Amino acid sequence: MAETMNIVLVGFMASGKSTVGKALADRLGWQFVDCDELVVGKAGRSIPEIFAGDGEEVFRDLETAVLDELQGRQGTVIATGGGIVTREANWELMRRLGPVVFLRTAPEILRQRLLAASGRPLADGMDWEAILLRYRQRLPAYERADVTVDIEDEPPAMIVERICTLLA
Ligand code: S3P
Repeated sequence: MAETMNIVLVGFMASGKSTVGKALADRLGWQFVDCDELVVGKAGRSIPEIFAGDGEEVFRDLETAVLDELQGRQGTVIATGGGIVTREANWELMRRLGPVVFLRTAPEILRQRLLAASGRPLADGMDWEAILLRYRQRLPAYERADVTVDIEDEPPAMIVERICTLLA
């Protein structure tokens, strides 16, 4: 891991980026940041408020601005929002930060987690077929990551060890 500056986690909503990211940062003795939280801090509003008040494009602009502001960091695990992979400009910014790791979480797990959670404008109140369609459309973008980790429902510590092995 010595030559790695940061690790960038990408994946669909509810794929575990924040949970795994925090555990990975603990394991490495690194810092952890969550792009969604940075966007909320920057906008001074929640994600549903940004989507409802300004629209998705403004949210995406904030997301790109946050990635830009992270440039130059070292020793940080960065959890991104699920749609960050949809903007081409974000790829260069992510790759400059460090290896991009795709958490490829089984759709059934995503379904269960998204049913139990709220606060995601692109999932709340939507039926699973529509969410699954978005997942499938985004899959080729996630697969541009440097490393892919397949996740069923194992504890975060196990996923962390697999990421460390893959990046070693
Ligand atoms: C989004 C995912 C969310 C958040 C926003 C949009 C998406 O982050 O950035 O609601 O487009 O997939 P999580 O992946 O952390 O849920």
